[in-house]
Amino acid sequence: MIRIENVSLAFGKTNILKEISVSIPKGGITALIGPNGAGKSSLLGLAARLLPLQAGDISVDNLSVSSTSGKVLAKKIAILRQDNHVGSRLTVRELVGFGRFPHSHGHLTENDHRIIDESLRLFGLTEMSERLLDTLSGGQRQRALVAMAYCQDTDYLLLDEPLNNLDMYFASELMKSLRNIADTRAKTIVIVLHDINYAGSFADRIIAMKDGQVVADGKPADIMTETALGGIYGFNIPVISVGGQPIALPFRR
Ligand SMILES: Nc1ncnc2c1ncn2[C@@H]1O[C@H](COP(=O)(O)OP(=O)(O)OP(=O)(O)O)[C@@H](O)[C@H]1O
Ligand SMILES: [Mg+2]
Repeated sequence: MIRIENVSLAFGKTNILKEISVSIPKGGITALIGPNGAGKSSLLGLAARLLPLQAGDISVDNLSVSSTSGKVLAKKIAILRQDNHVGSRLTVRELVGFGRFPHSHGHLTENDHRIIDESLRLFGLTEMSERLLDTLSGGQRQRALVAMAYCQDTDYLLLDEPLNNLDMYFASELMKSLRNIADTRAKTIVIVLHDINYAGSFADRIIAMKDGQVVADGKPADIMTETALGGIYGFNIPVISVGGQPIALPFRR
């Protein structure tokens, strides 16, 4: 479980996160949604210690994020950041292999290669594994970054907008792979999504943030309603049911 207790964050005089308390249970997929600037990336950044905690506490399986060593934490929790700048002279396989660093410290074993191969396969990268990153399309590079995070083989995987740049086919394939990973490998996945229909279709739970606070938290059926979505995003979003599944349609002109 990721336990977030009374967490606040300020940049200068601006309060970004305001006394957030929320727990993310072990297992399954939790989607983090909310408007631009709500604080989603900041919260994930604190949980993975990309940012130092200023106030409050965060623990992952009872390991305090602020006092646990980086070595131990890197085997527990992996994060794909929203913005990534990776060396373009790397091959896809080399990038994905970086995910093994907390385990191998640069000396890849047979087991590391097995996990790298599996990650490449899971995210549809096997055939381009020897290509240089700067020869890939934006979506192909994005998939390689997700594979690198997965390759770290942690219990917790935090993915900040992993669907960026993906076409409909690969977005849907990625969500299916994540669902499969959560179900069959007991991983806990926290994923920031702007397309709430993916959140509604694939997540077990949706946490919505707005203005540095958690404003809704529940099962997809509870959040995928006109009332809840209207409160989160500040405009009317019709929701229809397709085969019993709620689908939001924010397209009306
Ligand atoms: N280093 C920083 N210095 C100052 N303000 C920052 C910094 N990082 C983030 N912010 C501000 O904190 C707020 C929350 O940012 P954050 O990136 O967490 O939002 P988000 O919910 O991930 O948004 P998005 O959907 O656009 O990615 C924003 O108003 C942003 O401008
Ligand atoms: Mg963000």
